[in-house]
Amino acid sequence: SIAPLVAALLAYVVGSLSFAVLVSRAFGLADPRTYGSGNPGATNVLRSGSKAAAALTLLLDALKGWLPVWAVARWGAAWGLGEGTLALVGLAAFLGHLFPLFFRFRGGKGVATAAGVLIGWAPWLGLLVVGTWGVVALVWRYSSLAAIVAALAAPLLYWLLDGALWTVRAPVGAALAAMTVLLLWRHAGNIQRLLAGQESRIGGAGAAAA
Ligand code: G3P
Repeated sequence: SIAPLVAALLAYVVGSLSFAVLVSRAFGLADPRTYGSGNPGATNVLRSGSKAAAALTLLLDALKGWLPVWAVARWGAAWGLGEGTLALVGLAAFLGHLFPLFFRFRGGKGVATAAGVLIGWAPWLGLLVVGTWGVVALVWRYSSLAAIVAALAAPLLYWLLDGALWTVRAPVGAALAAMTVLLLWRHAGNIQRLLAGQESRIGGAGAAAA
């Protein structure tokens, strides 16, 4: 059946909606790709000074990751879609954010979208990983550091909790590992800035170009 492929393509298209760009446009703000880190994401939209636009970007970028996973979990069985497709659509939405169809394949780093996907896959895991992000962000005030630590914690937590809180789900585990690798790779510039002591703190104005 081509149903898994169709589902993955739809998820990729939904993931391609770069809400940092769309919300900024709706709010009459500058394009986030032109200032700060240049990244189309909630963290950089916050550097515009609009907390509302940043919060809405975070919410919608997470929602577009959660929605395809939720839809497959809700209606997938009727189309013969199983655990493999559940993993595939999450990864596809994440890839849409990184390489968006509508924005010349130049997207963001995938933090908010990954959070939405995780919550869709396993709510407890998602909440633990989002909590990890929150603690690091509160203590050290670096959005990127919080994302890096949360991304590393995600597969570890999944592995630790797998079987204890829910059944083994190999395709989801593989997709999760792939998301962690891609997310870390997208933060290469942030890692360099963190090591050089040049990363901008949450809500701070300055950041080197991505
Ligand atoms: O959401 C991406 C975040 O981890 C880093 O964003 O703009 O500081 O590179 P930025």
